[in-house]
Amino acid sequence: MKKIGSQVTIAMDGPAGSGKSTVARRVAEKLGLLYLDSGAMYRAVTLLAIADALPADSPKLIDRVKACHIEFRDNGKTILLNAEDVSIQIRTPAVNRLVADVAKIPEIRHEIVKHQQRIGAEGSIIAEGRDLTTIVFPNADFKFYLDASVTERARRRLAELQAQNVDTTLAVVEAEIIARDEKDTTREHSPLRTADDAIIVDTTDKTIDEVVDFIVAHVCENE
Ligand code: DC
Repeated sequence: MKKIGSQVTIAMDGPAGSGKSTVARRVAEKLGLLYLDSGAMYRAVTLLAIADALPADSPKLIDRVKACHIEFRDNGKTILLNAEDVSIQIRTPAVNRLVADVAKIPEIRHEIVKHQQRIGAEGSIIAEGRDLTTIVFPNADFKFYLDASVTERARRRLAELQAQNVDTTLAVVEAEIIARDEKDTTREHSPLRTADDAIIVDTTDKTIDEVVDFIVAHVCENE
């Protein structure tokens, strides 16, 4: 593992299936950085909505989000919501269905962004999501935007689902990805977009290792 010298912030955005989470986790390991999975935080607060059947835009949910405590352990592998390990629960279909609606509420985003900025101020970090390069860390030392074709992203997602024995097809998964891209890029608050100063990495024909090596080399050369 190479430790980089000074405090460094690496921000990474991209659509679902672009490889951000896997790449960011591996870069974090290689460079000794804290890994921040921002999507996991939106997923965790979605559990608060599900627990009490609260609509995504209800004032009660906003209050619960303001009062809740989110903490990461094992460098991002484990997420605790009010001291309970919810790492598995945040990946369930119920959360997948609701999270985009919760993530578009400005008051909820405001709370989560504050929390992310606090984590970022504590030390060197690689953070990934949809608005890390634009809103959360606009002055990040390094910014990357990972992308891949819709078909390739659907193939990756299908492989993950098949590994979990979920019975579906490429066409269904592709349609879900297109719908999710539409929600993430057209929402009013903090839509997914490419920061002007981000390096765009098309991962369609690249392995995870190739993308990780490119990012690590770029950071080490320019640090
Ligand atoms: O990356 P993911 O699939 O775990 O993200 C879950 C949802 O949260 C997705 O609908 C986009 C949203 N999200 C967001 O709005 N802003 C972020 N920084 C990260 C995720």
